[in-house]
Amino acid sequence: MSDKVLVTGGAGFIGAHVARRLLDAGYEVIVLDDLSGGMRANIPEEAVFIEGSVLDSALLDEIFHDHGIRYVYHLAAYAAEGLSHFIRVFNYRNNVVGSVTVINAAVRHKVERLVFTSSIAVYGSNQVPMHEALDPRPEDPYGIAKFAVEMDLAAAHKLFGLRYTIFRPHNVYGEYQNLNDPYRNVIGIFMWQILQGKPLTIFGDGEQSRAFSYVDDAVQPMIECLGLPETAGEVFNVGSDISFTVNQLAAAVMRSMGAEARIVRLDAREEVVHAFADHSKIQQYIGGLPDPVTLEDGLGRMAAWAKKQELRPPKPFTGIEIEDKLPPSWRQFVSGG
Ligand SMILES: NC(=O)c1ccc[n+]([C@@H]2O[C@H](COP(=O)([O-])OP(=O)(O)OC[C@H]3O[C@@H](n4cnc5c(N)ncnc54)[C@H](O)[C@@H]3O)[C@@H](O)[C@H]2O)c1
Repeated sequence: MSDKVLVTGGAGFIGAHVARRLLDAGYEVIVLDDLSGGMRANIPEEAVFIEGSVLDSALLDEIFHDHGIRYVYHLAAYAAEGLSHFIRVFNYRNNVVGSVTVINAAVRHKVERLVFTSSIAVYGSNQVPMHEALDPRPEDPYGIAKFAVEMDLAAAHKLFGLRYTIFRPHNVYGEYQNLNDPYRNVIGIFMWQILQGKPLTIFGDGEQSRAFSYVDDAVQPMIECLGLPETAGEVFNVGSDISFTVNQLAAAVMRSMGAEARIVRLDAREEVVHAFADHSKIQQYIGGLPDPVTLEDGLGRMAAWAKKQELRPPKPFTGIEIEDKLPPSWRQFVSGG
């Protein structure tokens, strides 16, 4: 019998890739997802799907017990970093309490490894290139939540011996990404806007830069770490090294979609201006990783997929807690307009 792996958030973008890779590698996959952000259609047919929340401790116990879970990939989260300032309670409940609920179950059921997707949001600003030896200084509730979970994993290891590996991906894009999320994933938003014949919206002058990472480059190390005991207790940045400004990205997305679009500039929002990470540590631990997929190639693959997707209206978040300083372009979603 093959090893059983629980993938929380497996109906989401990265989780859909993780689930497929694990199946390809011969694992049995159980997906737990509340479908708040992901889609049932993203889940591979060969996986067992359980609809529910990571906040449901009793359900987690049942899953771990009934399926004999050996490894956990914990990806479930509400990952709209920019919005996290305005949904603080929800962010900490879903992303911290939800994660700790999974960690508790992993401890109780003695899993062999818990793989957690943190984020480079833990580094905060002015720490580039971001590398794992830096002290995290997260500046928004999303990053603070991720770092809290990282610290909780270390505490769970210290007392209970829980083995874990933390990955900090950044700006991941590719097939299965939610194209209808108005708050995050600039590439998905640009593609949605192009497919709707709308102008592309850019916060500020568009000179903020990110190293956009094709999903395979972030996911492959996450799968390979299971076979490498020395990756337990470690944290790794994963993704691409090459930064592009949002203006450059807009031009590249238009090329990939074979379309021209007008650009509309919105007020700058509270965000880190330049974010790029060092990936030498993961290369040191996992030899022979392929060169990252170029932006042009990755966008080409995603564009071919995006053109075949059924487009829906943007799905607004319904529980905004603080409206002050909410970017005006997001305010329309609060009033339901
Ligand atoms: N996409 C990126 O660029 C990126 C970068 C860094 C880190 N991450 C992290 O990677 C993980 C996956 O991100 P993604 O981009 O695939 O996001 P996603 O929104 O596509 O996937 C998250 C999934 O979690 C599910 N979910 C949310 N709350 C849940 C809950 N309480 N119980 C059960 N399921 C729940 C959603 O329905 C969704 O399917 C997240 O933890 C995110 O913080 C993503």
